[in-house]
Amino acid sequence: MPAIVVVFEPSGLRVAVVSGTTVLEAAREVGLHISSECGGRGTCGKCRVIAQPASAPSLQDLEHLSTKEVEDRIRLACKLKIVENTRILIPGNEAFVKILTKTDSKEWALDSGLQNQFGIAVDLGTTTIVAYLLDLATGVQIAQVQSLNPQTAYGEDVMSRITYASREKDGARTLQQSVVSGLNQLLTKLLDTTEVTVDQLTRISIVGNTAMHHLLLAADINSLGLAPYQPSIVGPTTMNPQEIGFQTTNSSELYLPPNIAGFVGGDTVGFILSQRLDLVDDVIIGIDIGTNGEIVLSDQGNLYCCSAAAGPSFEGATILHGMRGQTGAIEYLSISDKDDRPDISVIGEDSPRGLCGSAIIDLVAELHNAGIIDNTGRMHMRSKRVIDDEKHGRSYVVVKSDESMESNRILFTQKDVRQVQLAKAAIQAGFRVLLDTVGKDVSEVNRVLLAGAFGNYIRPESASAIGLLPRTEISQVIPVGNAAGEGAKGLLLSKKSRNLAERIVANVKYVELASHKKFQDVFLDSISLLQ
Ligand code: FES
Repeated sequence: MPAIVVVFEPSGLRVAVVSGTTVLEAAREVGLHISSECGGRGTCGKCRVIAQPASAPSLQDLEHLSTKEVEDRIRLACKLKIVENTRILIPGNEAFVKILTKTDSKEWALDSGLQNQFGIAVDLGTTTIVAYLLDLATGVQIAQVQSLNPQTAYGEDVMSRITYASREKDGARTLQQSVVSGLNQLLTKLLDTTEVTVDQLTRISIVGNTAMHHLLLAADINSLGLAPYQPSIVGPTTMNPQEIGFQTTNSSELYLPPNIAGFVGGDTVGFILSQRLDLVDDVIIGIDIGTNGEIVLSDQGNLYCCSAAAGPSFEGATILHGMRGQTGAIEYLSISDKDDRPDISVIGEDSPRGLCGSAIIDLVAELHNAGIIDNTGRMHMRSKRVIDDEKHGRSYVVVKSDESMESNRILFTQKDVRQVQLAKAAIQAGFRVLLDTVGKDVSEVNRVLLAGAFGNYIRPESASAIGLLPRTEISQVIPVGNAAGEGAKGLLLSKKSRNLAERIVANVKYVELASHKKFQDVFLDSISLLQ
C-alpha cells in the first residue's frame, strides 16, 4: 500500500506513492508538467525541482547542478526517489496561482512631511504574500505584487511550521530566512517595476497571524504550539527591517501591529481596522478563512474574536484531488438533475487537474442537495457517478478519465466529505460560540463580511447551504477583498491609524475555543449538514 505522500507546490496537488517512485513519475501521475527533455535519463538537466527534505544528491545531480544549487535542495526530478513524505516545489509555476490582491480601498489618514517617500504594506499569509507599494505623502497605491509564502516548503499549516521551528536545528532561523528572502524578492520586484528607489523606501508594515508574525521575527514560538496557544509577543513592534535581513536602507522602519491572542494576530487587526467593525450599529460576523479561520463578532461595536482550527482542507490539502486555486483547478461546480455529468468551471480554461476550495464547498452542497450525501455526510450509490473505488473507497467521480484531456480522473471521496465536515464544523462552532457569548442567536446576524481569498471566491449560496456561514440573506453576505492587506496600508500610512489599531486591540475580547465549555458540544452538533 502506498503510504508516502508527495505534495507539489505551488499547486498543492498531492499524491500517495510507493517508496522508490521518482518525483518525475509522481508528477506525471497527477498530471503536472516538469520539463524533461531527455525523458528521465538524467542527461538534460532540465527537470530541476526543490525538495524538502532533500536526500543526498545523485551522480547526475552532481554533474548538472552547482554546489550552491545542491545546498539549496535543488535536485533532478527524474533521479530523486521518494522514500518519505516530501514537498516538491516546481520552480516557474508561481505566476499561475490565483492570489487575492484586490482590496476594498479606504480613505486613510496620512502623516505629514513624507514627500517623496514610499512604503510597502504586506499581508503575510500562511500560504500567500501580497505586497502593496504606496506613496506615503498621498496614500496612492503605485504597484502590487504577490507570491506564495516560501515557508510552504516546510509545511502547509501553522502547526507544522511551529513544529519545524521548535524541533529542527536552527528551524526558526531557517523559516525566518525563507520568508524574508521571499519578501526581499517582492520588494525588488516592486522597485524594478516602478521609478521608486530603495533610498525612498522608508516604511514597511506587515500584518499576519501570530505564527507568521513570530516566524518573521524568529521569536519564541513554543507557547503557540501548546494549549492555551499564547503568543510570546503581544504588543506592537517597531524596528529597523535590516535587523531581520531586509534589503532596505538604515533609515527605514518596520511596523507590526499588536497581536490579539492565540493565533489571532495583526491580519485580524487589519481586518477590523479596514472595516471599522468597532463602529457598526448592528450585528456583524467577519470571517477570514485561510488555513486557520479567524472570526470576529461585532455586536454594535463591541468586538469578540476567536480562531477556528479549520485546517487546510479548504485550500485543497487533505482532499484527495484537492489543489490550490491555480490553472487547472476546478473552481465552481454544479450538478444538474437531468444530466449525470457535473458542470464545471476550470481556472485558465485548462484541462481539469483537481478541485480548489470553492469547488469543494460547491461539491458538498450539490451532492447533499441531490441526496447523494445525507445529513450525516454519508455517501450513497444514488448516481451512476458514485463508485466503490478499490483504492479510495466510495467516491463521486467529478471527472472521468475520458473527460479530461490529460486522462486524469478526479474523485471526491467519502473521506473528503468527512474532512470538509470537520473543517466547516470548526468555523461554524466558532461563530456559534461567539454569538452565544453575547447571548445572540445565528438568526440575529445582520451581515456577514468575508475577507481573504477563500471568502471572496466561494459561492455564498453553497457555503450557507452547508453551514459554513451563518444563514442570512445572501445579499447580506459581503466579500470585502483582502481586508487584512487594506488594514496594512492604513498602518503604513499614519501613526494615527496605528494608535487607533492599538486602542481597538485593547478592547477586543478573545474567546479561546479549545477550552470553552460549550465548544465540544457545539462542534459535534455542527458536523451535520442539516442546517
Ligand atoms: S528529465 Fe532530463 S535530466 Fe531529468
